[in-house]
Amino acid sequence: MALFVDSSDPKEIKDLFAWGVLSGVTTNPLIIAKEAPDADLGERIREVLAVSTGDVSVELTTETEAEMWDESQIYHAWDPQRITIKVPFSEMGLRVLNRLAKRGIKTNVTCLMALNQAYLAALAGATYVSLFSGRVRDLGYDPKPIIAATRGVLDREGLKSKIIVGSIRHMNDVNEAIEAGAHVPTVTPPILRKMIWHPRTIETIAEFNNAWRARSKKK
Ligand code: E4P
Repeated sequence: MALFVDSSDPKEIKDLFAWGVLSGVTTNPLIIAKEAPDADLGERIREVLAVSTGDVSVELTTETEAEMWDESQIYHAWDPQRITIKVPFSEMGLRVLNRLAKRGIKTNVTCLMALNQAYLAALAGATYVSLFSGRVRDLGYDPKPIIAATRGVLDREGLKSKIIVGSIRHMNDVNEAIEAGAHVPTVTPPILRKMIWHPRTIETIAEFNNAWRARSKKK
């Protein structure tokens, strides 16, 4: 079991890694376009690498096999041990994934909505298969059985791919992903912070500390 952060913000990532619960980072073109529209991708990812540990997923933005391959080689060179090439799922994606896997380059096949897609990506050698919980729910389906069925098939067939569950919109999506068998939920900073918060915990700690301060005053 592991937990990744879904962000490209070096400040947030540094802060959140200090909790000791994270072991990787996922980014995508939409996240980077929103968080840093004018940033140079290479500089941004190098900053992310500097403040984190573990695998850092960087997504391909081109669409032909040749372009995707060339793009993947640029990203891979930034840190061959840690950069994980995020490959959008498609026929071209599978071709590129298969070539990357044969070279031992880490991959994260992304934008998956269904077991059949995750199964193909796993057979082609994906390091990670990313199921998109919130976007599945947007279509009116429950993502939990899809995650559970994917985990069941990977385990039964001895396929090595790990399931990342992304597109997490609520704290409960994290709980559901874990319960259903995800290896790695990837969670945005605001939702990670909400995972800490509980009103009863805050009240209880305040009650204990107030009692302690009152006792100290009596001495
Ligand atoms: C996961 O790797 C993706 O970056 C992400 O979770 C996509 O989620 P969205 O539906 O919020 O775009």
